[in-house]
Amino acid sequence: MELPFDGAISAFFKDDAPDDIRNAIKRGEKGEILSSSYPHSDRMPRKAYEQDLLKLQTELVKLQAWVKESGARVVCVFEGRDAAGKGGTIKRFREYLNPRGARVVALSKPTDKEATQWYFQRYIDHLPAAGEIIFFDRSWYNRGVVEKVFGFCTDTQREHFFAQVSDVEKMLVDEGIHLFKFWLNVGRAEQLRRFLGREGDPLKQWKLSWIDVEGLKKWDDYSAAISETLNRSDSAHAPWTIIRSDDKRRARLEAIRHVLLNIDYDRKIPKSVGRPDQSICAGPEIWDA
Ligand code: ADP
Ligand code: AMP
Ligand code: MLT
Repeated sequence: MELPFDGAISAFFKDDAPDDIRNAIKRGEKGEILSSSYPHSDRMPRKAYEQDLLKLQTELVKLQAWVKESGARVVCVFEGRDAAGKGGTIKRFREYLNPRGARVVALSKPTDKEATQWYFQRYIDHLPAAGEIIFFDRSWYNRGVVEKVFGFCTDTQREHFFAQVSDVEKMLVDEGIHLFKFWLNVGRAEQLRRFLGREGDPLKQWKLSWIDVEGLKKWDDYSAAISETLNRSDSAHAPWTIIRSDDKRRARLEAIRHVLLNIDYDRKIPKSVGRPDQSICAGPEIWDA
């Protein structure tokens, strides 16, 4: 079988990657954090991770029971660069949940018809009914970032998006929807290491697209678009939660913990939820290009 983008990632690694990034990957041991600005020096050990994860997932089961009983509606938006860990985090959230009340929405690029609609319209279709938790794997924030970087929208469309986004989110929150917006923040070397891993793994190759390959050359364009998006769409009613995700394990735990801490469900065991690690889970001030 022909591999998708055969060798494009390794070719970039070999020929085009900035020296510091290439060297960080070459030097990096298996369990090592590649980003020098990451607040922990090593990755979380598997055993501790699995224990914490199970406790948090047990709490999530109670959260879902409460959501169903009370008719609450929950939306978790996951954003971040390619390979930031959105899919893997959502997977851990949903592992022990009833899939009927815990749906993933991962929309592909707008169809010709959707492209003529109000930009938010196709996302609105997927908002939760009573008792549902919806996970958006990418979202309306495509207009702030990937659409800007790849020129998929005009500047006017993007300005229109920024003019509306906080009001749209205000309406959701005023409706009583619990809205969480996660920005998973991965460093450049770690992203490239994950891409290389995907290229070489038949089970993960599907995660790669031409956007990822072309995006390799656009790191700084992404940084600018992300920074602007976080600045212009962080609001008191719908704040961003940045999660430094160079260590996937810590990132997953922090995301789940954040939701558990911010919803008042029945039978919560605070000790199982634990305390947030504010060095890797906080507001836009911890985002690092
Ligand atoms: P993912 O990382 O979600 O697996 P990609 O990296 O291929 O997918 O694409 C990133 C995002 O860009 C997706 O949400 C996709 O729908 C969007 N996208 C791709 N092509 C277009 C396009 N022509 N117009 C608008 N959005 C697009
Ligand atoms: P993954 O694709 O998530 O399995 O991770 C890619 C590589 O990084 C694998 O070789 C993993 O063993 C390693 N890895 C990922 N997360 C950790 C971690 N928290 N601690 C140690 N190694 C890790
Ligand atoms: C992931 O690692 O699951 C990603 O963030 C998804 C992607 O590569 O777009």
